[in-house]
Amino acid sequence: MPTEVRSILERSCYDCHSNRTRWPWYSRVAPVSWFVARHVAEGREHLNFTEWDRMSPEDQAKAMEEIGETVTEGEMPLASYLLAHPEAALSEQDQTLLRQWAGGRARDPGSRDEGES
Ligand code: HEC
Repeated sequence: MPTEVRSILERSCYDCHSNRTRWPWYSRVAPVSWFVARHVAEGREHLNFTEWDRMSPEDQAKAMEEIGETVTEGEMPLASYLLAHPEAALSEQDQTLLRQWAGGRARDPGSRDEGES
């Protein structure tokens, strides 16, 4: 995985999709704690970037396709999370980079690069 891609994912996705959750103070206060814990448990179940390097190429390809979809549709990061973590929002540039990495090049005519795969 390219470093630029990883750093975007670390900022915007790792709290829910890795073993490196930075638990915020409010996650210890019920009922928010149940809500947050459930999101993290569910998020990891779907996709855990800590496992990435151990995943098979087929699983990685499938995950990349799903990541591209969630980014294109603006589903991730979850809206409720962005309220508390505005810094996790993906900029246009972040989205383009993630989509290109995930294989969604067609939507970005500006930066098509022939020689590269
Ligand atoms: C607040 C926690 C949270 C954050 C932050 C978050 N996710 Fe998720 N993610 C979830 C949860 C919960 C699910 C499973 C439920 C769902 O699909 O809504 C999920 C599911 C997914 C799925 C599987 C979708 C499917 O259709 O099965 C993908 C892919 C994904 N997330 C990618 C990302 C990416 C990429 C980011 C960062 C840009 C991100 N997520 C940030 C919580 C989060």
